[in-house]
Amino acid sequence: MTDVALFGAGRIGKIHAGNLAAQPGVKLKYVVDVNAAAATELAARHGAQVARADQVFDDAAVKAVVIGSSTDTHADLIGRAAAAKKAIFCEKPVDLSLARARECAQAVAKAGVTCMIGFQRRYDPTFAALQARLAAGEIGEPEMLVITSRDPGAPPVEYIKVSGGIFKDMLIHDFDIFRWILADEAATVYATGSCLTDPAISAAGDVDSTAVTIRTKKGRLALINTSRRAAYGYDQRFEVLGSTGMLQAANHKPTEVTAATGRGVSTDTPEHFFLERYRVAYASEMAHFFEALAKGTPIKTTIEDGVKALELAEAATISWREKRIVEL
Ligand SMILES: NC(=O)c1ccc[n+]([C@@H]2O[C@H](COP(=O)([O-])OP(=O)(O)OC[C@H]3O[C@@H](n4cnc5c(N)ncnc54)[C@H](O)[C@@H]3O)[C@@H](O)[C@H]2O)c1
Repeated sequence: MTDVALFGAGRIGKIHAGNLAAQPGVKLKYVVDVNAAAATELAARHGAQVARADQVFDDAAVKAVVIGSSTDTHADLIGRAAAAKKAIFCEKPVDLSLARARECAQAVAKAGVTCMIGFQRRYDPTFAALQARLAAGEIGEPEMLVITSRDPGAPPVEYIKVSGGIFKDMLIHDFDIFRWILADEAATVYATGSCLTDPAISAAGDVDSTAVTIRTKKGRLALINTSRRAAYGYDQRFEVLGSTGMLQAANHKPTEVTAATGRGVSTDTPEHFFLERYRVAYASEMAHFFEALAKGTPIKTTIEDGVKALELAEAATISWREKRIVEL
């Protein structure tokens, strides 16, 4: 049995707890959360113990930690887990500070431990199938990528104030998709944004709608459009134009029923939000983490990927603030 500790018993912590407890040979031993009630409830649900961070790092039987606590805890916990030689699964972003995220990557490399970042979109069956078909050459050489990423609604402004801004909080996933799909790195980034859905977001110093243009080192182009509001639900699509064709990843709907009447043809709106849309991806990423640990095989989404996505988020933030193209 691999004993595991989970940090964070909030929205994502609950998902990870269920998924990791379902892995063969894996035991959720400890749940750590500064919110004692949340920790107690989640630990009880999975037959785990509530613990403090020190207990986790002092327990040699704990071989891996899953970090799903608030963003401002990630860097410290990665550092402590690496020093204690425990394998790490950590939610995005590694940190809001690029310098601190790079220090984390160095600490992980020095300790020689596995560190996976929760870019779950790479484990989504639709996105993974598209990437595999692209890599197999089905549409020739990729030339252009268009990503649409829209949330059904904005989080509370209190969250936005400490989120690091839309580029680090929300587009970090789109920047990871960009790097993964085009298998290329950005040479230039131009980002613009507006506050179109709620003036309180502007008052908090952020935007809720963005348009980002990237030119890659190989000369490929990417366009990312995002919004904190989509009246029809969670909109997660992308399209790749290649030299001999095009591949599209469409939204998932709760059911595939189509209704045709005298007034028109309709289907379900997309699955509501990330917990629904990426339910399978969250399970698959956790299976990937523990399979890689058991077999000693490589991790698909490393801390270096976490740092690279953050570099893009930082560049986009600077581009938006300073109204200029940023070179990487
Ligand atoms: N990959 C994804 O799709 C995805 C989705 C949601 C959230 N996230 C990330 O997961 C993290 C948590 O987000 P959430 O939506 O679950 O937030 P949340 O607020 O629901 O949960 C965070 C939990 O962390 C706890 N916490 C705070 N400080 C702690 C500490 N020092 N030790 C242990 N626990 C502590 C809080 O009490 C809270 O219960 C964030 O970094 C977020 O960016 C990723």
